[in-house]
Amino acid sequence: MRLFCLCLLVVWAAVRPAVGADTPIITYEERFLPTVSRGGMVVSQEKLASEVGAEILRQGGNAVDAAVATGFALAVTLPQAGNLAGGGFMLVYLRDEDKTIAIDYREEAPSAAHPQIFINDDGSVDEKRGRYSHQAVAVPGTVLGFVHALNKYGTMTLEQVIAPSIRLAAEGITVTYALEASLASREAFLKRNPEAAKTFFKEDGSLYRKGEVFTQLDLANTLRQIALGGERVFYTGPLAQKIVAEMERNNGLISADDLAMYRVVEREPLVADFLGHRVITMPPPSSGGVHLFQMLNMLEELKIGGVPQNSAQYYHYLVEVMRQAYADRSKYLGDPDFVDVPVETLTSQETAKQLVALISESKARRSQDVAPTRLLPKESYDTTHFSVIDDAGNIVSNTYTLNFSYGSGIVVEGTGMLLNNQMDDFSAAPGVPNGYGLIGSEANQIEPGKRPLSSMTPVIVQLKDGSMLATGSPGGSTIITVVLQTVLNVLQHEMNISAATNAPRIHHQWLPDEVLVENGISPDTVELLEKMGHHVMYRGRTLGSTQSIRLSQGFFYGASDPRRPGAAVAGVD
Ligand code: GLY
Repeated sequence: MRLFCLCLLVVWAAVRPAVGADTPIITYEERFLPTVSRGGMVVSQEKLASEVGAEILRQGGNAVDAAVATGFALAVTLPQAGNLAGGGFMLVYLRDEDKTIAIDYREEAPSAAHPQIFINDDGSVDEKRGRYSHQAVAVPGTVLGFVHALNKYGTMTLEQVIAPSIRLAAEGITVTYALEASLASREAFLKRNPEAAKTFFKEDGSLYRKGEVFTQLDLANTLRQIALGGERVFYTGPLAQKIVAEMERNNGLISADDLAMYRVVEREPLVADFLGHRVITMPPPSSGGVHLFQMLNMLEELKIGGVPQNSAQYYHYLVEVMRQAYADRSKYLGDPDFVDVPVETLTSQETAKQLVALISESKARRSQDVAPTRLLPKESYDTTHFSVIDDAGNIVSNTYTLNFSYGSGIVVEGTGMLLNNQMDDFSAAPGVPNGYGLIGSEANQIEPGKRPLSSMTPVIVQLKDGSMLATGSPGGSTIITVVLQTVLNVLQHEMNISAATNAPRIHHQWLPDEVLVENGISPDTVELLEKMGHHVMYRGRTLGSTQSIRLSQGFFYGASDPRRPGAAVAGVD
C-alpha cells in the first residue's frame, strides 16, 4: 500500500503542470483544463482569426491592435457572424490606468425608419421585410468602431492590422468542416441574393468543400480600401456610395446622410461587486449588463453559494431569476439616448431583495400569468465573441454581430460584404416577439437614429485575488444567461475557465415559459424541476459559445467553447 502511494506521487509529480504549487487555476479536481500561455492570448470562434491576433501580439501590438486585427479577420474567416457591416460592443481595459472603456458601435435605425415601418395595413407585423429585406438593414457600426478603438487605444496603423485579413481574403482560406457546414446549412437562404450566391458558392453554384480554397476577391478589395482610406471610405467614400446605391435599387432605407452621421459612443461601463469581485460589463443599449447584474444580485440574496451546484434546487433558482430579468427586459430596456432606462433600480440590491421575496423555494411561477406563451424559434449561429489579453495585462472583450447567421443574407454588389438585419432587434410592435422570441415595449420601438436593444454581454472581471477574466458569448437571447452561468462558475464555484465553459447550461427568458436544458443535465434533475412546476425542454442543440481568458499570476488560461466547431485559443509564449 505504501509503495502504491509512492508510485502515485511520482506519477503526479511527473504530470503536474509547471505553474507552481500556489497556482489555483489548474488542479486535477476538474475534468476540463484550459490552454495555457505565458505572453498573451487571443480566443475566438475561428482558428485563423485567433492566430492573426496572436501574431499581432508577437509583433509587439497591444490587446486593442490584436482585437481589431482579429475582428477584421473574422469578417473573412467566419462570414456568418464576423463582419464589416454589422455592429457590436467592445470593452477595453487599460492596465496602467486601471480603467475600462465601453465602446458602443451598435447599428442605428436609418432616418427614414419609424415605429410603424414593419406593420402591414391589417396591423400584423411583416416579419419577412423586417428580417430579410434591404429595409431590415440598420446603419453599420463595425468599421468605425474598430477604427475608433485602434486610433484611441491601439499602437499600430490600420494598414498593419488589416494586412493579414486582406491576405486571407485574397489568397483564400482552406475551408474547414465548420465553414462547409455553416454554408451548407444556409445555402438556400444565401442563394436568394445573387451577390451572396456569387460570394459564397462556386461559379457553378456548388458548395465549397472541406480542404478546398475559398477566396473572396471583392472582400479583399474592400478591406484594402479601408486599410488605405480609413473609415471615410466606408461612411462617405466609395463604399458608402455602393451601400447607398444598393439601398436605392432595392427600396432600402439607408441614405448617404445616415452613413455620414453615424457615430461611435463611448459609454460608462456598468461596474458592480459580486462576492468581492469587480464585474465590468456593457450598459444599455445592451440589456446584457443590466440583467447580468440583476440576476447576480438576486442569486446573492438567494445565497446560491449554499445550494449544491447542478441540483434541481440550483436550477430552480436560476430559472426564477432569469424569468424575472427577461420580464423586466421586455418592459424597461431600450436605447438610453432615447428612453430612460432605470438601470440603478434594476441593478440595486434593494430591488433584488424585493424580487427574491416573490420566489418560492420549491414551486415554479407561471410566466403565462403575465403574458401569453410564445414559441422560441431555433437559435441561429449569429453573433460572435472574442477575448484578447496582452502581456501587459490590457484586455479587450468584444462581441459583434450581423444579427442572424449571415445577417440579412444580402451582399452589397461588388464588395463581398454582408449586410446586417439588426432592425429585427427592435420591437416591431409592442408584445410581438422578434426573431429570438423576445418581447419588447415602446422603450425599444423603432425610431430614426435609435440603436436596437441587444443581448450582447461582453464582460471583464477583476477578481479579488488580482487575476482577470474576459468572457462573452453569441446566442441571441441566450447570451445573457450563458454569460451569467460562466461568470457564476468562475466566481461562485471557483471553476477553472475550461471547466466553467464546459459545464452544462440552462436558459429561461420569461416567454415562452420553458426551461431549455443542454445534454448533461441529468434526467433525474429534470424530473425534480418538472415536479416543481417547470416546463423543461431538452434543447436539441447547445446554448452559446463562450470565448474566455483568465490571466492569473502571469499565466494566460484560455477556453474556446467546444459547443461549436472551429473555435480556437491562440497563445503567445
Ligand atoms: N443581435 C443579437 C443581439 O444584439 O442581441
